[in-house]
Amino acid sequence: MASLAVLIALVGAMLASGAAGVRVELTRVHSRPGVTASQFVRDALRRDMHRHKARELAASRGGGATVSAPTRKDSPGGPEYLMTLAIGTPPLSYPASFDTASDLIWTQCAPCGGRCFPQPTQLYNPAGSATFRVRDCGGSLCPYNISYGTGWKSGFRATETFTFGSSPACQARVPGITFGCSNASSSSNFNGSSGLVGLGRGPLFSYCLTPFQDANSTSTLLLGESAAFSGAGVRSTPFVASPSRLPMRVFYYLNLTGISLGTKVLSIAPDAFSLKADGTGGIIIDSDTTITSLDDAVYQQIRAAVLALVTLPTTNGSAAMGLDLCFALPSPMSAPPAMPSMTLHFEGADMVLPADSYMISESGLWCLAMQNQTYGVANILGVCQQQNMHILFDVRKETLSFAPAKCSTL
Ligand SMILES: *[C@@H]1O[C@H](CO)[C@@H](O)[C@H](O)[C@H]1NC(C)=O
Ligand SMILES: *[C@@H]1O[C@H](CO)[C@@H](O)[C@H](O)[C@H]1NC(C)=O
Ligand SMILES: *[C@@H]1O[C@H](CO)[C@@H](O)[C@H](O)[C@H]1NC(C)=O
Ligand SMILES: *[C@@H]1O[C@H](CO)[C@@H](O)[C@H](O)[C@H]1NC(C)=O
Ligand SMILES: *[C@@H]1O[C@H](CO)[C@@H](O)[C@H](O)[C@H]1NC(C)=O
Ligand SMILES: *[C@@H]1O[C@H](CO)[C@@H](O)[C@H](O)[C@H]1NC(C)=O
Ligand SMILES: *[C@@H]1O[C@H](CO)[C@@H](O)[C@H](O)[C@H]1NC(C)=O
Repeated sequence: MASLAVLIALVGAMLASGAAGVRVELTRVHSRPGVTASQFVRDALRRDMHRHKARELAASRGGGATVSAPTRKDSPGGPEYLMTLAIGTPPLSYPASFDTASDLIWTQCAPCGGRCFPQPTQLYNPAGSATFRVRDCGGSLCPYNISYGTGWKSGFRATETFTFGSSPACQARVPGITFGCSNASSSSNFNGSSGLVGLGRGPLFSYCLTPFQDANSTSTLLLGESAAFSGAGVRSTPFVASPSRLPMRVFYYLNLTGISLGTKVLSIAPDAFSLKADGTGGIIIDSDTTITSLDDAVYQQIRAAVLALVTLPTTNGSAAMGLDLCFALPSPMSAPPAMPSMTLHFEGADMVLPADSYMISESGLWCLAMQNQTYGVANILGVCQQQNMHILFDVRKETLSFAPAKCSTL
């Protein structure tokens, strides 16, 4: 649990440093202008599948201090969101991907011996920083080898001063953060980033993600006290204790007790989202999976309920969108018909998803933006379903809070 402790220490240090909190802009990696929604969804589904498979494999190996999974160099690599932070003294700024399903902060360190991936910013050189300290593991270095759905990164642990925050007026310099100094990797690139910030079961943070079809506005990540929010619309639900094994240990599990579409409560088994004795099952909220994926029995209930409400003809959108249930709109320019919201009944808190958060339309196709779970170890609430919602992870209180928001104006 070393890195969890460190991440909690990160918030502690931020609070102690007097920083009221830090605001970081998140840029969506895969939102290139000109990419159609259907192209985006197909690519995202492929990335999701690699992550699910990698986690499944990691889980089947029992986890441990290092997690491994096979790599596919041809897999559409990389993260969904980027943030900018700076390492060392003087601070060297770099873009890092942001992930709630892993728990290490890392960047590549010189020298790399030819096994680092080309990155968009200058390589961080520990020898050039006044605040770099190597971590000692009984007289030797503390190595790590961590795998993501898209490949492994290895190196050794060290501590550094990090600078967070996108504007000079609202920055925090936090000393003594443990991070991974990566000097070898299986990837040929990391989609425009020079490292990763893992916030799995980490500190107090919140984010607000803009709709993925809106390529113009940036999402926001708030760290420390400024992450908190309150008001009439805020709902809170406790996290469920995660299994002790990796990779599940760092996932944020929720207690989902039912789902409704409009006023219809779907017929879902009471234990559909329960964790099983072997650590699989349950439902997690994830910032690195695009499309919600659910156990087939649950998915089929949702599918049938949507089908019962829509009078448009269904169409095989699988080639265009990669999604299972699609309808044909009367013309490519037609607006989709009105649909009631979908409600996820979490313990003590209903999460209301407007139609735009669970249906995607493009060029005359209108599809259910959810899928059944073919790979992976848990049900996953993906980012498509988290759009325009301010979501707070409070690990001290062990709760997730959320409220509807217009994230582009947060
Ligand atoms: C890291 O782990 C992967 C997967 O087990 C392995 O293939 C790779 O060689 C390891 N890297 C290093 C530098 O040990
Ligand atoms: C990475 O750093 C460790 C510790 O200095 C070293 O043992 C290892 O050989 C380095 N790996 C590469 C590929 O440079
Ligand atoms: C992300 O990485 C993949 C494979 O490494 C590459 O094909 C793709 O162009 C990259 N995307 C971006 C936006 O850099
Ligand atoms: C994004 O910005 C471009 C250029 O300013 C504009 O043409 C386009 O309509 C905007 N798209 C959205 C979804 O706001
Ligand atoms: C739907 O289209 C996909 C891809 O074109 C094809 O593989 C699949 O067989 C089709 N499914 C049905 C039910 O027609
Ligand atoms: C989930 O919530 C239900 C309803 O409040 C409760 O009965 C159940 O014990 C909770 N399950 C877990 C794992 O906390
Ligand atoms: C997922 O749903 C599709 C379409 O409804 C079905 O053909 C497939 O068998 C399901 N997969 C699993 C693993 O149940």
